[in-house]
Amino acid sequence: MRPPVDNGVVLLTGASSGIGAAMAMGLAGQARVLVIVARRQARLEALAEALADARAEIMVLPCDLTDEDATEAMVSAVEAAHGPVDVLINNAGLGDIGLFSASSWEKNRRMIDVNITALLFLTHRVLPGMVERGRGGILNVSSGFGLTWMPIFSAYVATKHFVSSFSESLRTELSGSGVVVTQLCPGPVATEFEQVAGNPTDQRIPDFLQISAEHCARSALRGFMRGRAVVVPGLMAFIAISLGRLTPSWVLRLLYAPVGRMFRRQGGSGES
Ligand SMILES: NC(=O)c1ccc[n+]([C@@H]2O[C@H](COP(=O)([O-])OP(=O)(O)OC[C@H]3O[C@@H](n4cnc5c(N)ncnc54)[C@H](OP(=O)(O)O)[C@@H]3O)[C@@H](O)[C@H]2O)c1
Repeated sequence: MRPPVDNGVVLLTGASSGIGAAMAMGLAGQARVLVIVARRQARLEALAEALADARAEIMVLPCDLTDEDATEAMVSAVEAAHGPVDVLINNAGLGDIGLFSASSWEKNRRMIDVNITALLFLTHRVLPGMVERGRGGILNVSSGFGLTWMPIFSAYVATKHFVSSFSESLRTELSGSGVVVTQLCPGPVATEFEQVAGNPTDQRIPDFLQISAEHCARSALRGFMRGRAVVVPGLMAFIAISLGRLTPSWVLRLLYAPVGRMFRRQGGSGES
C-alpha cells in the first residue's frame, strides 16, 4: 500500500538541515502542499526559495517542537490553510554522545521532548483523521540505534528504541486501515547530527560507513512509497546493523565493556 504523498498535504519536521532538507527536495516534486518545520526560519525560507519551481506549494512554519502549544498551533495552521495532513514525516531529532553520568540534563530532556514526545504528539494529533479517511502515511525517522545498542549513546539509543517499537506496533495495529507506517533506521549520515550531539572524541566516522543525506532521503522515500515496514539505507549500514542484531547480547556486552571504562579514565572525552 502506498502512502498518499502524490497530490497530498505532507508535513515534514526537521527540514532545516540534513536528512529532512534532502527529503524536502524529493517530496516537493510529488506533494500538493509540503509543510516544512524546524526552528531556524531563515534556513526554511532559503529551502522554500530553492523549491519555488517545484510542483508543491511550500508552507514554511517555524516551530520549536519542544513547545506543545506551539506544535498544536502549527498543525492547526496547516489544517486551516490546506485541510488535513495526509502524510506526516517525523524526522526532527537530536543525539548526545558521551558518558550518561556526565551528560547535561537539559539536553537529555530536549532529546526526549523532540525525539519522543513531539513524534508521539504529532502522530496522535493527525492519525485519527487519517484512519477516518481510510488513507494516510507516517514515516518515523528512528536510527540503526533503534534496532541495536551501544555505550556512549545510551539516552539517544533509548529514545530511538522508543521510536522503533512504537512504529512497529502502530504499523501492525493499523493493518487494513489504509494508513502506512514506515520507520527509517539509518546508520551514520553526513549531516549536522554529530555537531549537535557533541562528539567529545577526535574519532571521526570512517567515510565508507557514512552515506550522504541525499542518499538516505532517496532510500527513505523509495521504501516509504513502497509501504515498507523498515528502511535501512546503505549496504554497509545494513550489514553493520544486521550483525549487531544477530550478535548475542552477551557478546556485545563483552565487546563494548572497555568503551565506558576508557571514557571514564579519560574524564569523559574518550581520547587516549
Ligand atoms: N545523521 C545521522 O548519522 C543519523 C543516523 C540515524 C538517525 N538519524 C536521525 O535523523 C533525523 C534527522 O537528523 P539529521 O541527521 O538530519 O541531523 P540534523 O542535520 O542535525 O537535523 C536535525 C533537524 O531536526 C530539527 N530539530 C532539532 N530540534 C528541534 C526542535 N526543538 N524543534 C524543531 N526542530 C528541531 C533541526 O532544525 P532546527 O535546529 O532548525 O530546529 C534539524 O532540521 C534525526 O531524528 C536523527 O536522530 C541521524
